[in-house]
Amino acid sequence: MTGGTDARDVIVECRGLVVRYGSLVAVDGLDLSVCRGECLGLLGPNGAGKTTTVEVLEGLLRPASGTVRVFGQPWWTSADRKLRESIGAALQETRLPDKLTVAETIRLFRSFYPSGRTVDQVLDLVDLDEKRNARNSTLSGGQRQRLALACALVGTPELLFLDEPTTGLDPAARQSIWRLVEEFKADGGSVLLTTHYMDEAARLADRVAIMHQGRSVAQDTPANLVAGLDSEEVVVRKATLDDVFVKLTGRGLRDEHEA
Ligand SMILES: Nc1ncnc2c1ncn2[C@@H]1O[C@H](COP(=O)(O)OP(=O)(O)OP(=O)(O)O)[C@@H](O)[C@H]1O
Ligand SMILES: [Mg+2]
Repeated sequence: MTGGTDARDVIVECRGLVVRYGSLVAVDGLDLSVCRGECLGLLGPNGAGKTTTVEVLEGLLRPASGTVRVFGQPWWTSADRKLRESIGAALQETRLPDKLTVAETIRLFRSFYPSGRTVDQVLDLVDLDEKRNARNSTLSGGQRQRLALACALVGTPELLFLDEPTTGLDPAARQSIWRLVEEFKADGGSVLLTTHYMDEAARLADRVAIMHQGRSVAQDTPANLVAGLDSEEVVVRKATLDDVFVKLTGRGLRDEHEA
């Protein structure tokens, strides 16, 4: 494959990606890559172009220009079906058929793949056993997201696209999705994840790309990005009870004795 920055196995790559919606340029010359076995965190403010980018990389949206390769293949060819069998995707707002039950929905997605997990295995994985016979329309927001993840995982894909997978979830559900992603990676899977949660990016992403107005403004490991900030002497830390004391009394705990 050409264009990789080093010898690592690049499995998702876009160069000079441009996407327009009418006169609006949503993605403006974006270069990105995801290597095998890594999680790339795609961050950026609302409207930065993250979902648009993910949709192009998933082969759902045609770019105006630029090159896209997934497992070395471009989209929009006769190889699309084969390519699709290697990926799993949970969209930012997955719309699943209201009338189907949870189990029926997973069975439907399983039929898109030549091999994969059983419905029972996936229900267990995302902890939706109790809802197997519930219609999709009756699920809570968090349950819907877990079902979307179940559909993304049912074909045992090599590459997962997760667009804000934990937005709106309770803390326990977020943690359980983080563990799922970690297990997926431990089995050799690769992930492109968008998120607005810095703790999520710090925990899951090996590298982070920060998007702003359709462009990538930084791409590095979370540690390197934070170290870059530290070198500018911007230090962010959690407040402690000490800070409360100092704020309320105007002095440090030891000041009086030391004076
Ligand atoms: N179908 C569409 N038609 C017209 N404009 C669109 C469409 N989808 C997205 N846009 C615009 O493209 C820009 C990028 O949107 P996108 O959804 O990719 O952003 P995002 O980074 O995913 O934001 P968020 O964090 O809110 O999910 C925005 O200005 C948005 O209004
Ligand atoms: Mg989005």
